[in-house]
Amino acid sequence: MPRKSAPRATAAIPDDFRVPPDFGARVVNWQRVHGRHDLPWQNTRDAYRIWLSEIMLQQTQVSAVIEYFQRFVATLPTVQALAAAPADQVMALWAGLGYYSRARNLHRCAMQVVSEHGGVFPTDPAVLATLPGIGRSTAAAVAAFSAGVRSPILDGNVKRVFARCFGIHGHPGERAVETRMWQLAEIALPAAGPCQAEDMIAYTQGLMDLGATVCSRGKPACLVDAGACPLSADCVARRDGLTGVLPTPKPRAAIPERNTVMLMVRREREVLLRLRPDSGIWGGLWSLPEMPVETVPFDAEAAEAAALDYARVYGAPVRAAMAGELTHVFTHFRLLIRAIRVDVGAGDLMVQDSATEATTETTQRWLSLDDLDALGTPAPVRRLLEDQARGGLF
Ligand code: ADE
Repeated sequence: MPRKSAPRATAAIPDDFRVPPDFGARVVNWQRVHGRHDLPWQNTRDAYRIWLSEIMLQQTQVSAVIEYFQRFVATLPTVQALAAAPADQVMALWAGLGYYSRARNLHRCAMQVVSEHGGVFPTDPAVLATLPGIGRSTAAAVAAFSAGVRSPILDGNVKRVFARCFGIHGHPGERAVETRMWQLAEIALPAAGPCQAEDMIAYTQGLMDLGATVCSRGKPACLVDAGACPLSADCVARRDGLTGVLPTPKPRAAIPERNTVMLMVRREREVLLRLRPDSGIWGGLWSLPEMPVETVPFDAEAAEAAALDYARVYGAPVRAAMAGELTHVFTHFRLLIRAIRVDVGAGDLMVQDSATEATTETTQRWLSLDDLDALGTPAPVRRLLEDQARGGLF
């Protein structure tokens, strides 16, 4: 008689990853007493404000987001207003927050909510996750905060809490580790029940708050006071002295350096700006024209002469001078920007598109430095221009 095989371990989560049955309740109770309650996107069920804040917070700290969020909702208070806004206005409201594909997706998402969902955000996380810029965790957060839906989140802060609490090794960006964490996130949810909506709001916010305040990257509060964390009694990292090791960091690759030369073409008190294509860095923002870097000698005098020659398409160049340099660090590379100011004579000057040789107002504009707020410009470009203005050079 064939022997009955032992039940196969389905557990992508090994047995020693124990989720305490009251995990959810502990997070909920802790959040109600110690969590954050007065952020500008809290104490509302308005899915528009909630969604906007979640997108802004995807790669940006709360302290940096608050001011942008308030300006954004004061200018575009509804999803309908955002959907109807010109792309330039959206990019201008976003300029400085970085990761500009978020802003382009935000705009597309608003249009889709209006055209396909009657201007009402869906509450089903699976439907939310089909919209541009909304991943699984953001969808769950929006559904929890706006409708009390019971669905797990797993953002960077929550991954840190889980890695430590359950003792999960391996970089959370690895698929296998992330899959395991999603399973845990599902198991750890507070029990479904009569007060689910309010609990889900407190639980979702509580995990975020724990990650951001108590279970911080550098100095988790439990090292000083075990009572600071509602999970400390069961935390594997705390028990085994692994808070400095978990979560496992991403294996580091050397970050390459690129460089570019930007022209500040100045005509009286105006500077020439160019709209960058939608894809690539700073997509959809207004930046300075750039010279093909291989044509620019590193010797300042020769570089100025090259810039003077290059700027001829913008009108009779009068003089050129090195205007400064800075390094801007992106996720995958650092960019050394050298800027050369070229003054061109006043008068009836053409702005030619170098690719089509056509004069165009849609991709190139003369702008007074006083009007910089009207267009979205990359933060380092703005800094270079403001330095010039401060030095009285504009
Ligand atoms: N990070 C992501 N979502 C957040 C929220 N709702 N509050 C604070 N930080 C967050």
